Amino acid sequence: MIITKTPQELEKMHKAGQVVGTVLKELREIAKPGMTTLELDRYAEKRIREFGAIPTFKGYRGYPYSICASVNEQVVHGFPNSKLLKEGDILSIDCGATLDGYVGDSAITVPIGNITEEAQKLISITQQSLYIGIENMRVGNRLHDISYHIQKFVEEAGYSVVRDYCGHGIGRAMHEDPQVPNYAPSGKPGTGPKLREGWVLAIEPMVNIGTYKVKTEKDGWTVTTLDGKLSAHFEHTVAITKDGPWILTALTESQL
Ligand code: MF3
Ligand code: CO
Repeated sequence: MIITKTPQELEKMHKAGQVVGTVLKELREIAKPGMTTLELDRYAEKRIREFGAIPTFKGYRGYPYSICASVNEQVVHGFPNSKLLKEGDILSIDCGATLDGYVGDSAITVPIGNITEEAQKLISITQQSLYIGIENMRVGNRLHDISYHIQKFVEEAGYSVVRDYCGHGIGRAMHEDPQVPNYAPSGKPGTGPKLREGWVLAIEPMVNIGTYKVKTEKDGWTVTTLDGKLSAHFEHTVAITKDGPWILTALTESQL
């Protein structure tokens, strides 16, 4: 069942989204060679709590941290650890915060120092694919129009879209219906339910340079590419309004 949100609920989700957006912006600024992802995790948890919010990921199905930190060939759900980040790494940071009962969920991939052109291009294509998906979140479109256009853009750029993990509805719970695949399940646009005003979706393409296939590491969480090639991930929590998509986790003028 897809839960429609009222304008009042969207305001609350925007507040939660701004906490996540602010924390990610700060993490992007402090992530440098020589730092560890465990330090970033501690920083994120402290900042989320300072805003009066709760780190949504911590304790979710037993997940032990406040962020996911996925380096290079790690795709998603990477455990923060005490290894030093090094020049040339790319780091995907996924963060969720619950404020006043509503969840915001967003992810970015950031360069650590100077990175290769190949890595820069991967990051750029992945971020653009997210915005192409968001652009399709309009009343009148169908759910898999979002999926179709993400996949088309990514594959035309020569990369692949991870199939095993999807975007999702979001609200009081981090994961609500519907699932939002980043590839068109039927290979065509124009399928899936019609999009409605008041739906909120977390769109989160994960894009690989090589194969779309992934595997889960022994920790039971960290997902890596099967071929060991680089992967990037971007995510926003987005509401469908009559005036078009409203990106709740994007930072706006009126900051916290
Ligand atoms: N954005 C991810 C997702 O929607 C974050 C979840 S990480 C978890 O699945 F640890 F909380 F599961
Ligand atoms: Co998500």
